[in-house]
Amino acid sequence: MSELKILIVDDDPVTRSMLKHTLNAHGYLTAEASDGADALAKMAAETFPIVISDWNMPNMNGLELCEQIRKHDSEGYIYTILLTSNNAMEDRVKGLRAGADDFIGKPFNKDELLERMAAGERVLNLETREALIFALAKLAESRDTDTGLHLERVQRYARFLTQELVGDPAFADEIDEEFIQLVYQTSPLHDIGKVGIPDSVLLHPGKLSKDQFKLMQSHTVIGADCLKGAIAKSPKAKFLHMAHDIARFHHEKFDGSGYPDGLVGEKIPLAARIVAIADVYDALRSRRIYKPAFSHERSCEIICGDAGSHFDPRLVAAFERVHEQFATIAERFSEPSELPGSAEPKELEMVH
Ligand SMILES: [Fe+2]
Ligand SMILES: [Fe+2]
Repeated sequence: MSELKILIVDDDPVTRSMLKHTLNAHGYLTAEASDGADALAKMAAETFPIVISDWNMPNMNGLELCEQIRKHDSEGYIYTILLTSNNAMEDRVKGLRAGADDFIGKPFNKDELLERMAAGERVLNLETREALIFALAKLAESRDTDTGLHLERVQRYARFLTQELVGDPAFADEIDEEFIQLVYQTSPLHDIGKVGIPDSVLLHPGKLSKDQFKLMQSHTVIGADCLKGAIAKSPKAKFLHMAHDIARFHHEKFDGSGYPDGLVGEKIPLAARIVAIADVYDALRSRRIYKPAFSHERSCEIICGDAGSHFDPRLVAAFERVHEQFATIAERFSEPSELPGSAEPKELEMVH
């Protein structure tokens, strides 16, 4: 990462200057602050993706600084490293609780410092990737009628549903922490293929003709093919594989009556079965040209009624256990004004 500016926070000018010299010698830009309060003032004026802070300082110590950083909703993630001679486990736990990401012993070892920096950069890179994925998904949706916070809600529904499946032995092989995270990150890409649907179909106000609907359905294949191109370049990137599966199969149905491939049951990748419920729940809760926004209860009834036909019945059972969280998310990320038409009106028109 170039041009990464690190904020060094320490009341001891000698430590500051040693850190500064080491970091500058390895291509990092630096700025300095003499305690937590000074650091916060500098961070208000400038963005520092990585903060290295001493633990014990006057005015505001390193722990309080970490807490303050986490409290403020900054633009991007701020990776914080605490410099500490407090090596005892309980101190580290305190540090982690306050929001520190990593620790460096004091006096610091140059190689260790650089390793810790590299680890921090890896985390920040992942965040950049997540932001980019989301931006692409938003771009694809921006051509549609106002879809508002559909993506924000869908990724949260999907995460809750996946978390609920963690304890289920039937999914133990597939679901772990990484899977949950990947579902959250990649679910916003489910309709990315809509970029390839002509305006005349995508923005068509009324009911679609058979041919138009066929074209509309092709958003699954268009999205998947585009992601296949990315997979060819990075075959090992798990999130691309999951994004592909979600884009292609989120309109498949458990009984085989979905599209584009008519897959049945567990042949439909799990991530796509999860997103199907999240996506449909959100569409049900949203107002459409042809239907009002359904209540949470009515939406639950519809989803439960489709267990085994549209949806994987075990996922519907999990949905029933966490349905209240769905309602909470719907409320928290509700639209400022109810706009007619949002996500996928043309697709769902044919479904419900
Ligand atoms: Fe879709
Ligand atoms: Fe959607």
